Amino acid sequence: AAVPMPLDDARPASPALRHRKVGVIGAGAVGTAICYSTLIRGVAREVALYDIDGPKVRAEVLDLAHGTAFTSTTQMTGGDDPAVLADAEVVVITAGAKQKPGQTRLDLAEANIAILRTLLPTVQSVAPDALIVLVSNPVDVLTLAAQRITGLPAGRVIGSGTLLDTSRLRWQLASRVHVHPSSVHAVILGEHGDTEFPVWSSASIGPTPLLAWPDADAPAFTREELDGIAHEVTHAAYEVIQGKGATNYAIGVATTRLLEAILRDQHAILPVSTVMDGVMGLADVALSLPSVVGRAGVERVLPVELDEDERARLATSAETLRTVAAQFGF
Ligand code: LAC
Repeated sequence: AAVPMPLDDARPASPALRHRKVGVIGAGAVGTAICYSTLIRGVAREVALYDIDGPKVRAEVLDLAHGTAFTSTTQMTGGDDPAVLADAEVVVITAGAKQKPGQTRLDLAEANIAILRTLLPTVQSVAPDALIVLVSNPVDVLTLAAQRITGLPAGRVIGSGTLLDTSRLRWQLASRVHVHPSSVHAVILGEHGDTEFPVWSSASIGPTPLLAWPDADAPAFTREELDGIAHEVTHAAYEVIQGKGATNYAIGVATTRLLEAILRDQHAILPVSTVMDGVMGLADVALSLPSVVGRAGVERVLPVELDEDERARLATSAETLRTVAAQFGF
């Protein structure tokens, strides 16, 4: 009998796909952090950075390239001509206005939708087969807008969504119980924003349900503690922005994780944002549910067992996002 092959080798990709080129648009703190972590993690053969600001993007490309003697990926290219993105398998969009202290992500919708309207046709002309990954905010509204503007299948337009928030939640819980964050199986769903919510009902630490976690020194997590953790996660970006003006490192590694699932065709289950097609009764809105991610993009969006409160939170997230998207004709 044939030896079963691990998924990521089961179907060797076409030669074109093996080039594994990632394009990143926006040479700001987020775009350069994504380039940096992608070079280090080695998930791509080439990282190309594009920005309209020529001196800035050339300096960033040089500074990133100068370290490639010590990174897994060594091809760091870019410039202020969109042609640098040619034939990328994935293009990551970080361009646009960023949250200022006190601003919500939804406040950025009008400015950043306008940028997408001019940017996406250019991207599709230079990289017609590329998956589009949105990171700019409000990422869920921009994911819906990008899917509508490009007309690409929903699975080929992916927002980083609550992947970052889920990492923040896992760090919060892991820090309290002294285990590695990768051993905390808990997820944030819905909007990447103020209406996001944790799914406590199915969370576990290793094999142990979170709500039954034994702790020799203290009772398991109280409801107040869990509410406090959820608040810290939902407000994490505001706190970081208040202190340093932007978030970039965590969104950088989170986006690289998404790129890895795509470029290594991993079929990994990640909470990312795509336009819903009826799953859990959701349609015409982009938000984050657990999704199977591989080289085709999001292959499947998985329904989640939720308790009554969590179902209500998901509905609130969807309604909030639908209301904002409708203001801009989506
Ligand atoms: C944050 C930005 C990426 O949550 O929205 O840090």
